[in-house]
Amino acid sequence: MSANVKILGFTGSLRRKSYNMAALRAAKDLLPEGASLEIADLAPIPFFNEDVEAVGVPEEVVRFKQKIAAADALLIATPEYNYSIPPVLKNALDWASRGTDLPLYGKHLAILSASTGMFGGARAQYHLRQVCVGLNLLPLNKPEVFIMRANTKFDEVGNLTDEFTRQAISRLLQALVDSLHPIKRGED
Ligand SMILES: Cc1cc2nc3c(=O)[nH]c(=O)nc-3n(C[C@H](O)[C@H](O)[C@H](O)COP(=O)(O)O)c2cc1C
Repeated sequence: MSANVKILGFTGSLRRKSYNMAALRAAKDLLPEGASLEIADLAPIPFFNEDVEAVGVPEEVVRFKQKIAAADALLIATPEYNYSIPPVLKNALDWASRGTDLPLYGKHLAILSASTGMFGGARAQYHLRQVCVGLNLLPLNKPEVFIMRANTKFDEVGNLTDEFTRQAISRLLQALVDSLHPIKRGED
């Protein structure tokens, strides 16, 4: 059952023609029935600074944390920058890890990555998984979705045209929803 499952998606790319943002948009069409996906924009979130935090948590951060809290699960589409996750994503996660309300704690997460390179952002995904340990975010181990040579998988306006990748994202989203409502399948 995926009725009313609310998923919040975000990416650490601010690029207008981001393949990772395009993958999030594609995911909206690939959801299990009844599930919904809202995409949060990380661009307005300022750089983390404890001095700023001491004066007052910025409104954009409060709103981002509220969206996380309201979601049943998360979907992160991450670019790979120098073998790791981009600062925009780490910064947003760092802000969300602060305070007494911890909306990330114990939240189920699906990860995908899109890169123009031949590894599809795999190295960034494994760095992100390490960060998840600190946050007690619960990422799905499988399926892994690496969109390699992303420039060949989307058209000029950002539509995901590669059928294999569409199916991979569908399976990932179904697994995310299933992780919220585990069903015994009698198979490994
Ligand atoms: C600073 C920087 C570092 C990058 N490092 C890597 C890398 O380590 N591995 C990789 O596969 N691609 C790397 N890339 C290429 C990105 O995967 C590519 O720009 C991708 O399109 C970024 O995601 P986006 O389309 O969502 O913005 C890098 C790009 C930038 C701007």
